[in-house]
This record gives sequence, C-alpha cells and structure tokens, in this order.
Amino acid sequence: MHSFISHSSDLPAGTRFDWPSDGIAFGGDYNPEQWPEEVWREDVELMRRAGVTTVTVGVFSWGLLEVADGVYEWDRMDRVLDLLHANGIGVDLATPTAAPPVWLLQAHPEIAPVTETGVRYAQGGRLGWHPSSAVFRRYALRMVRALAERYGTHPAVRMWHVGNELGNENHRSYDPETAAAWRVWLERRYGDVETVNAAWGTEFWGHRVGSFAEIEPPRFSSTAHNPGLALDFARFTSDALLAHYEAERAVLREVTPRLPITTNFMVMNNPGTDDYARWAEEVDIVANDHYTIGSDPLRHRELSFSADRVRGMAGGRPWLLMEHSTSAVNWQSVNRAKSPGEMTRNSLAHVARGADGVLFFQWRASTAGAEQFHSGMVPHAGAETRQFREVTELGATLRALAEVQGSTVPRARVAILFDTEAAWAYTAARTPSDLVRIVDLPRAVHEALSARHIAVDVIRPQDDLTGYDVVVVPTLYLARDADAAKLAAHTASGAHVVVSYLSGVVDEHNRVRPGGYPGAFRELLGVHAEEFVPLFADESVALDDGSTATLWTERLVVTDAEVLARYADGDLAGLPALTRRTVGAGTASYLSARIDADALARLVQDLVERAGIAPIARADAGLEITRRVGADASYLFAINHDGEDRAVDTSGVDLVSGRAVAGRLVVPAGGVAVVREGANA
Ligand code: GAL
Repeated sequence: MHSFISHSSDLPAGTRFDWPSDGIAFGGDYNPEQWPEEVWREDVELMRRAGVTTVTVGVFSWGLLEVADGVYEWDRMDRVLDLLHANGIGVDLATPTAAPPVWLLQAHPEIAPVTETGVRYAQGGRLGWHPSSAVFRRYALRMVRALAERYGTHPAVRMWHVGNELGNENHRSYDPETAAAWRVWLERRYGDVETVNAAWGTEFWGHRVGSFAEIEPPRFSSTAHNPGLALDFARFTSDALLAHYEAERAVLREVTPRLPITTNFMVMNNPGTDDYARWAEEVDIVANDHYTIGSDPLRHRELSFSADRVRGMAGGRPWLLMEHSTSAVNWQSVNRAKSPGEMTRNSLAHVARGADGVLFFQWRASTAGAEQFHSGMVPHAGAETRQFREVTELGATLRALAEVQGSTVPRARVAILFDTEAAWAYTAARTPSDLVRIVDLPRAVHEALSARHIAVDVIRPQDDLTGYDVVVVPTLYLARDADAAKLAAHTASGAHVVVSYLSGVVDEHNRVRPGGYPGAFRELLGVHAEEFVPLFADESVALDDGSTATLWTERLVVTDAEVLARYADGDLAGLPALTRRTVGAGTASYLSARIDADALARLVQDLVERAGIAPIARADAGLEITRRVGADASYLFAINHDGEDRAVDTSGVDLVSGRAVAGRLVVPAGGVAVVREGANA
C-alpha cells in the first residue's frame, strides 16, 4: 500500500497516510441496508469477482444507526463491516450526517434550510439541514463521535467520508439563524459596517445600512440584489459548509488520528457552489464526484476539463474519483444509458488525469427510494448483464494498472486560470448576456489544447505561475489586483498570455473597474473596450481573418498593441477584435469576441508554438492523450473517443492488453491503452 502526503492544513506539513487500497481503488457506494442479508453474501461474492477493493458505507444511514435520540443500533453495521473485512474489501466509512433522521427533523424542524422565498424544507429529501444550525451541529457531532469510537479501529475502515456532497441540496439557506451567522461572518470580514457600505456601493438605491443587524441575506425581493452582497453570501455559504466539515473532521481526528479524512466535491460542468480549491486545503485526499450529461456530445471533453480542474485543486497530487455512474443517472430529463465502452473510457480518463481511484454511485441499483432508476455496478437485471461484465472487465484493467498508483501527471507548461469566486461574481450580477456561461470559454480552450495533445493545467489565478510558458485567462470575470500584477510580471518574464473578454471586469467586491474593460488587465494588454456588444443567439459577425464571432463582441480601443484581426461587418466593422502586445520577453494577447472553434484552436496553437511546447505524443486526432510519471516509469494513456481506430507513436508495454508496443500503437475504436513507456518496458 502506498502512502501519500495529506493536503489538510490542520496537520503538520508532510503528514502521511496509507492510500486506502493496494493499487487503484475500485468500488462504489455500498448501501446494504436496502437489502436482506442473503443479498449481502451475493454482493461480496460479486465484488470479489469484479475486483472491488473499496466501498463507501453508511452515507445516508443516520436514521438507521441512531434510531431515536441517543439510541444507537450498531448490529447491522457491525455485520456489514465484518463481512467486508472477511472478504478483503476496504471501507471508506461515511459519517451519516448528510441525511438527518426523521425523528430529528420532527423534533427540530429549525435545522432545515429555508428557501429564498421563505419556505422551510420539509422532510423527505436529504441534506435537510443548514450548516449554521447549532442544534444540527450538536446532534451531528454526537453521531460522528459515536461512530468513530465504535469503528475507528475496525480493520476494514481505511478512511473517512464526511457527509456527502456538502452544499448539494443545501447550498443556500435564508433562515434567521443563517442570517445571524452571516452577520458575524461579515463583521469578521469587514470590521465595521461603513466598510461594508463602501465595498458593496450601497449608495445605489439608497441601500445604506446603519449596523450589521440591518443586513439580511439576499432573500426573494422585487428585483436583483446588490452583486457585492450576493457574492459575499456565496462566499459565506461555502465557508459555513466548510466549517461544518471541519467540525466533523476535528472529532474524527481526535478519535482516529491515523485515518485519512475527505469529503466528496462536485466539480462538474458548472462553476460550483463551494469554493473547492479552498476546501482542498482541508481534506487529506481530494475526492470528486463527476457525472456526464448524456445529451452533451462532447461530454468526454467536459470530463477531461473537470478532471484537470480537480488535479489543479489537488496541487497535482493523486486524487480520488469518489462517484460516477456505470450507465444512466436518474436526474436528467432523458437519462441515456452509456454506450458500450463509455464507462471504461470515462473511468480511464479520470485515471489519466491523476485519479488513483475509480468509485461509483452505487454498487447495486436500488429498487425502492428516490434513485430507483439510477444505474449501479450491479443493475436491476443482475450480474449476467453487459453492464456487470463491463464492470468486471474494468476491475481487471485497473488491477493491471496497479503500478500506476502514486504516479502523477507532471506540471504542464500551459495553464488555464479558473476561479470559482470569479464565476460566482458573474452569476451574482445581472450581466450583459445570459447566453454567455462562465465555464464555456475555459472549456473550449481546454478542448482546443487537448485535441492537439497539449498538456494543460487548470489552476487558480492565486496559484504559482512558475513554469507556465502559456497562460490563458478565459472569462475570468473577477480579478484581484495582486493576481493581475502577478500575471503582468509573469508575462514580462517571457510568458505568452491571452486574456479574453469578460475578464478582470470587476474587483473582489464585484464592482466594475472603471476606465474600460478588461479593467484589471487593460495596461498589460494595451487595449480597452468602451462597450460590450453581445450578440443574439442567431447572430454572428465576421472577422477579417476569416473567423466568425458569436455571442460576444466589444468596441475595442487600442492604446499600445498590434491588431491581429478586425471586425469585418456589423456595428463594429473596421474596429480591432484581436490584439497582441509585446511585454518584456513575453506577449499579451486580447480576444474581444467569442470566435469559432477553429479560430480559437489557431490562436492557442500559435501561442503554444511561440513557446516551443510540444504535444505529449504524436497521435491522431480523436485520441485523448496524457502522461503520468512515477518513480520508476512513465505511462502514456491513450483513450479513443472515435468510431475509427486511431494511432499514437509510443513504445513499451500496453498494460491493458499486455502486448509489447514498438514505435506505434493502434488503439481500436472506443478502446483504451496505457503504455508503460520505454524500449525495454
Ligand atoms: C450524487 C450523490 C449520490 C447520488 C448520485 C446520483 O450527487 O452524491 O448520493 O445521489 O448523485 O447520480
């Protein structure tokens, strides 16, 4: 079993834990309480057949463990853990606090979140608590302590899983107790109320407040709330949820100092409701849940982007894919089954981008309850199915990749800057176009680079930029002064930087930086936009380099930059669209429009060539290529997302097929390969 260094700031730097499995962790959420005990015996038999190493147990089981206030029933959990241990399966034990028991909700309805329109959540769902509830905290920590004392030394237990997706169903609450906690948070952040007034610009509509007591959460009102207030409320909520995690962590740490602790993030195709890059500093292992959107034809690319975001949060270290699905989910409008091979490609793509575990929600598809039609590793139709056969094959593939565990994806030379706070700032305001979604351009840039097999990291603007010869700043709506200054210095030292529209528009209080957009980067770029000119859904504008803009254009003024392309028609005809300025040893380009995919690809390719960055390997389009590097070997991942066979130049041994590769590997349509590289590998 490998050891790994904890991320968590509550421990001395360099603290190590054992990785929860030998090799790559494989398994999923296991909810045996939904089944009679004879099914458990079949479960472990099938788990062994599939090569399951790790299961997450007890996620929503509070109501079954604490059956009445202070009355615990452990028998079933005892038997489950013993059975798993007897079968060599490790347990990621969840604190069951994600779903409060019915008796607690009945006795204390005030623990439930309240919507912005003032409706208290009723019982019947999950995450029916808000993190500012003192009563909830007291009950939750008592439960956590009881669980840790009972099972902290059980030999099956390898790690702790705090709650579940904190902030998923309970990502905002507008109840009076939350309002009080929000005021305390504001007082701590700003010191006095005049500073709050100044930061938010409460002169507007005469919204001045005379004391913290007069500040309310952004409840339902006649129109939009102040963007500074709304952004701070998002920050506060993320902090309140994190504080709940930290409170559970403190109990677990005290009782079981030798077990690693995590909670599962939700880094997917959205900005996110929690500031996970910040949360990553508080978990021992970064763990993520990822679900593809079946109707998105480019969902595998979204997956790669999300996985790279997670690796960025993990500081490049191995992380855990805590949940994904074997096939359909049950919460999209059409819950499309995954195509044959898609689950394996999805799983391997996470591993390719640094995951050392592939877990699913859930082991066995439920027959009762709200997730009846969600796929499982064992579907309703049982084990003699395509789905379970593919699960078993995946288990075998991951076993063959055991030596990859502990290797890492080397730091790339290209970085995309992405910041959750910046995304919140954008969604907290009424912005010029609802058609522009803040993850779209970062994702498109990531796609353009990945399609050319260029390694890329997705990091925060606050992170260290050393070694990034190309830095892309796509729709980074909010930029702090210090980060803008750092980017300018980094450019001058030789980096090639491209900043897009809707970047650096506001400061950390969500106030527009006056003097023209993109305020924070204006000087660096030698341009400013006088006016945003967003386009309607069916509109497009030609540029004189042959490309086309949709969704977004700007009236741009050049003060000190070379014009690379101009608008060719429409209101902006003849005005600059794309510029570049030489800054010291580097260059700073500005993209004022949402250009088509080919033009975007040419733009990034040009920067990559200027910086002399080579692809990870020479490979056909349609292959996803990454490399992980370990102490003794490096591993080339090639995932074929195409309907045709595709080739990559490499030599070594393909660990998936066991075959030697000399010079060139053909990856069959829809197939995967992981080559331990080297002539004698
Ligand atoms: C996740 C959640 C799981 C399950 C899954 C279904 O968000 O953590 O418990 O509900 O979604 O896709």
